[in-house]
Amino acid sequence: MTLAEYHSLRKTPVPGGYLYTKAGARGLADPAYELLAQHLEPHGESALDLNPGIGLVTHALRQRGLDTQALETSRASLRCLEAIFADSVRLTRGLPWETEPDSTDLVALVLPANRGTRYVELSLLGAARALRMGGRLWIAGSKDKGFEHYFKLAQELLGFGLLVKRDGALRLAVLEKEKPAPDLPAVWQSFTCHIQGQTLHFTYLPGVFSGGHIDSGSAMLLRVLPEQPGHVLDIGGGYGALSRPLVGRAQSLTLLEDDWPSVLSARQNLGEKATVLHSDVDEALTPGQTFSTIISNPPFHVGGLVVLETATAFVEAAYARLERGGNFYLVANRFLPYEPLLEARFTSVRTLAVDSHKVMQARKD
Ligand SMILES: C[S@@+](CC[C@H](N)C(=O)[O-])C[C@H]1O[C@@H](n2cnc3c(N)ncnc32)[C@H](O)[C@@H]1O
Repeated sequence: MTLAEYHSLRKTPVPGGYLYTKAGARGLADPAYELLAQHLEPHGESALDLNPGIGLVTHALRQRGLDTQALETSRASLRCLEAIFADSVRLTRGLPWETEPDSTDLVALVLPANRGTRYVELSLLGAARALRMGGRLWIAGSKDKGFEHYFKLAQELLGFGLLVKRDGALRLAVLEKEKPAPDLPAVWQSFTCHIQGQTLHFTYLPGVFSGGHIDSGSAMLLRVLPEQPGHVLDIGGGYGALSRPLVGRAQSLTLLEDDWPSVLSARQNLGEKATVLHSDVDEALTPGQTFSTIISNPPFHVGGLVVLETATAFVEAAYARLERGGNFYLVANRFLPYEPLLEARFTSVRTLAVDSHKVMQARKD
């Protein structure tokens, strides 16, 4: 897949209309979204989709005549939502627990189970807070990914709940808000670590990759980076685990990240010294912007599925954004076949370390 193909939006028919989808975006051909879109019933006048992905449920809410708002964290998914709903839905980039209190009659939520328990619990709290008294929450998810636990928690937060559908492991439920929602708890967490002679303090929001410790692959990558890396680009930088140790060593630091909670966390950790952009791969960079060193620990999960297309786009973007004579450093799970991808582009590709992960260096001449 070329970078242009990765960034292209595809028009996709859905019942009663069409949506846009693209590589790296969530929510198409996902049975939990389909179940919720098919069965949710309108209530009141306004609705909030709290995990829209490309917007299948948002579209269903619009079709049922509701004044609809959608809150999304992924830049790749937001690009799809903006292409179709710019004029018809209030689109918000935000945190699912920072909803406007008592603002809507219905909330729809595909449980974001792959983001971890705390993230789902806070999303449910955000839903409870957003609903007006008597408002309804629709949730969909899999019993294999904690649905029963989250349904019980939603009942504690809201009141009466009814299981509406079972379809294999999938479950759909509706709840009614019968009591005021609790206040938001403190959500930021932190940890301190010692890496390469530095003691570093990190703060992070729920749902970010490897919150609470530096990923072992990322730690391997940090060990091979040059002392003076020049102008550095960190693609898929998370809360800043790779970039933070380079503050003071790099001439400049730019971090690109698709996930909004990760962007906010990286801004906390890197401060004024770095540019942190909410970006689907290199989409937020200006044309022709290049760097002397590019670093990455690419993702291989989107919505719980193993997909290499985003990781392939990371490699293509690294090649496009590297100066001649520059190096791309990448860490990956040992079983992932990065070698052919790198060798198709870069002149010299070396494996620098192999342990729990493998660290590779690719040079552009
Ligand atoms: C394996 S994690 C590594 C995070 C961080 N670099 C570290 O070492 O802890 C991969 C990161 O890529 C981000 N990501 C996924 N898809 C992306 C995309 N399309 N554009 C930019 N970042 C993306 C994920 O949100 C995640 O933070």
